[in-house]
Amino acid sequence: MAVFKAVVFDAYGTLFDLISLNSLADELYPGKSQALCELWRRKQLEYTWLLSLMGKYRDFWSVTRLGLQYALETLGLPMDDPKPERLLQSYLTLPTFPEVRTSLLRLSQRYPLAVLSNGTEEMLEGVIGANHLEPYLSHVLSADAAGVYKPSSRVYDLAVGAFFAVPAEIVFVSANGWDIGGAKSFGFSTAWCNRSGAVPETHAPPPDLVVEDLEGLEALLP
Ligand code: LAC
Repeated sequence: MAVFKAVVFDAYGTLFDLISLNSLADELYPGKSQALCELWRRKQLEYTWLLSLMGKYRDFWSVTRLGLQYALETLGLPMDDPKPERLLQSYLTLPTFPEVRTSLLRLSQRYPLAVLSNGTEEMLEGVIGANHLEPYLSHVLSADAAGVYKPSSRVYDLAVGAFFAVPAEIVFVSANGWDIGGAKSFGFSTAWCNRSGAVPETHAPPPDLVVEDLEGLEALLP
């Protein structure tokens, strides 16, 4: 691979572990947590794509709330009690995957790093602050600034603008196959952090690199 100007990371599922929502959900809704969390995440993403296609925008905090509301209603659980709010708030304190902190520290000595996420600035500042990752990141970029969601090129463009780079000079890292497909179509160099052993998406060009975690990425970057 060529020499890169920056490495840019997706947030949720890539740096921050959403599986951890399951343990709180398990405490709040015993026996229903897995179904709830899966449907919640699916609806959250679906709503970002639907809104973007409709040319509408609601920020990611609202979309996350709406996804949770749908998932709760599907499972016959109430939205109007304090439990959903606890689940939502835990988005601000999600833990990182185990290797993230040390990998970001080492990578930040080799490249400028950034986060580019659908999350609002407030959500990203919250979770990045909770994990003390600020020292490693030169930019935290939110889709909110573009008023549309990934995989819109207007969102990926935020990183191009931040680093005064052409897309191929940026390595975009995401665990979400659809996000990696969008990023590759946009022109980024891509590294799919395939944490869950998923099969590759078929609708978009393949990623340049496939790694299991950020330590794998460290080993493959020039
Ligand atoms: C993000 C979601 C897509 O962080 O994981 O943008």
